[in-house]
Amino acid sequence: MAVTCRKDGIYGYVTLDNPPVNAIGHATRQGLLDAVIWAEREGLERVILSGAGRAFAAGADAREFDAPPAEPHLPDVLNRIEASTVPWIAAVHGACLGGGAELMLACRYRVATPDAQIGLPEVTLGVVPGAGGTQRLPRLVGMQQALAMIPTGKPVSGAEAKRIGLVQEVDADPVGFAEMTNGEWLGMAVPVGELNSGEAAPEVFAAARDEAGRRMRGQIAPQRAIDLLELAQTASLAQGMAEERAVFLELRQGSQARALRHVFFAERAARAPDWLTAEPAALDHVAVVGGGTMGAGIAYALLNAGMTVTLLETDAEGVTRARANIDKIVDASVKRGLIDAAGAADRRARLTVSADYSAAAGAGLAIEAAFESLEVKAQVFAKLQDALPAGAMLATNTSYLDIDTIAAPLADPSRVLGLHFFAPAHIMKLLEIVRGKASSDRALATGFALAKRLRKIPVLAGVCDGFIGNRILMRLREAADTVLMDGTTPWDLDEAMVDFGYAMGPYETQDLSGLDIAYANRRRQDATRDPARRYIPIADRMVQEGRLGRKVGVGWYRYPGGGGKVVDPLIDDLVREEAHFAKLTRTEYDAPEITRRLLLAAINEAADILNEGIAQSAADIDLVTVHGYGFPRWRGGLMHYADTLGAAEILSQLRALQAEDALVWKPSPVIEACAAQGLTLAQWRREAAADN
Ligand code: COA
Repeated sequence: MAVTCRKDGIYGYVTLDNPPVNAIGHATRQGLLDAVIWAEREGLERVILSGAGRAFAAGADAREFDAPPAEPHLPDVLNRIEASTVPWIAAVHGACLGGGAELMLACRYRVATPDAQIGLPEVTLGVVPGAGGTQRLPRLVGMQQALAMIPTGKPVSGAEAKRIGLVQEVDADPVGFAEMTNGEWLGMAVPVGELNSGEAAPEVFAAARDEAGRRMRGQIAPQRAIDLLELAQTASLAQGMAEERAVFLELRQGSQARALRHVFFAERAARAPDWLTAEPAALDHVAVVGGGTMGAGIAYALLNAGMTVTLLETDAEGVTRARANIDKIVDASVKRGLIDAAGAADRRARLTVSADYSAAAGAGLAIEAAFESLEVKAQVFAKLQDALPAGAMLATNTSYLDIDTIAAPLADPSRVLGLHFFAPAHIMKLLEIVRGKASSDRALATGFALAKRLRKIPVLAGVCDGFIGNRILMRLREAADTVLMDGTTPWDLDEAMVDFGYAMGPYETQDLSGLDIAYANRRRQDATRDPARRYIPIADRMVQEGRLGRKVGVGWYRYPGGGGKVVDPLIDDLVREEAHFAKLTRTEYDAPEITRRLLLAAINEAADILNEGIAQSAADIDLVTVHGYGFPRWRGGLMHYADTLGAAEILSQLRALQAEDALVWKPSPVIEACAAQGLTLAQWRREAAADN
């Protein structure tokens, strides 16, 4: 039963009951409609509407968005509630989002707990509110507030909702408060739909459009939501709602909404696989080795999750530096209002920084974030093996190095796994959990349990150079360097990728992380690189000339005075010179051709990653590219994007490019199989392929 009704005297209690978060699907809509009729028939004085469990309602059931809309439609149900002769009181706790908030707006009276989360986050799913949100909200809280909430999708707390007039009252017991509400007053409350809409000057709308264009670059829904808010100023409720509904239905079938829904559900599906039933190691006390930027970020993430942390360094100097790095993060968090002074003190109290490994004797897990060198890691793991209890798991945060080589010398290599964090580790949500040849289920289960404690998105990866994300990145950079050499500039290439929707172009990103890191990797790969594969030497020359990126003020761009990037024409000369040395005739690549080549390269590599079982699913690769590498969320991740192109199309483009370089553009067997069988990459299964 998605909605339950109970009568007590002249009060009706209507409860949304669709676990876990009362998403409003067909049964709920029907239940609400039945409840309106029931309450009127019973001649009740008021209806108190609340949600069972942890939420009021998390919005329209997004799982139904792929199916045609079915009656009764939510806007009609809500109009019926608003027009009912029996006044409805929304008693709100927990999440009250999307359709849940629209339902609340259709009620005559609204009371929420101070910590309720009320908002219209539809744009984050690529749609606009579809049941009156854009028309009722500006009527209730004014246009400025509505513009602050709907195009951003940001919720407000119950306490804030009271301040802006979104709810009449806050109370820890909203149902109890609703029971006590003065009946006469309730009878006089004007339905929100009958209020005049708030207004704003055209410049205010223009500013909102600019801001949405900047913050949600490339996305349609925020702009359409602003149009609808503007319409609310002049249209009747009925006209405004009809237009809103039309836009909602149009957008929900569109590619952006499909992509955003895909990422939303992929994020929620990211958890330990069903076969992983082993008991994880205890995580109350975790050791981190190395207090550099990465180690300090990891340690802080652990402290934030309430754990006790021992941060291990090599010597007294290292201890001082590590402490300073952590202090910097703690202080910044206080400054940004994320934690208060007591929270800062509590975190510091749970941290020990030491050069003595015996300080970590009680830890259930160690995470090594030391220098990227196999020798350094071998020493660290030998010491961890001696210092930590036998049941403790040992993880490395390496980005590229072979976990099996790190594990091999240990008495029990099954304790070892990779936990690949992304910088800044206390902010970035992605965690690659790397399964070595010997990694035990308990080690992997510990990785997933840690991700849960840290509220990160876990993705299981196999061992290879770069795992999932960095391996795709390496291939994308190789393709970028080739395009650069053959016919573009770093800035035109970056701009093309940013226009596609990437947060930042590959060259600007390299400047940020430092060109020496990729250089060291290339030297490591020298021994195994296929000599027949084309090698572009431009990035090596950059490093030889000391152009290491932002940290030295000059890389692919120049950063005068440590400020923003400026184009450096010298780079264009350098590239042309290299092309001349290589006796190349350069061409001119335009933006679509640049993105086409880079993305095809990345997709083909990702398909190989699936083929080799390095990633478990296309959706996992989507999560990695969106959460670790700035791929536009509204394109759904690299593989979802590939599926919008179609495997047959990708295959034909790869084959055409093979005329230029047969090795580099060799199609992945997965692309070939999908094209031959008419499958999407999301549908491709390794086991099925193995059976064929
Ligand atoms: N439609 C369908 N299912 C939904 C949903 C929605 N609007 N909102 C949440 N769910 C599902 C999740 O997929 C998850 O399902 P699972 O357990 O099968 O994986 C379950 O409800 C719990 O959600 P989860 O996000 O894991 O719980 P949480 O407590 O961390 O967060 C919310 C709860 C409500 C804050 C969060 O789910 C959310 O933001 N939902 C979307 C709200 C929204 O955008 N509404 C507008 C819809 S147009």
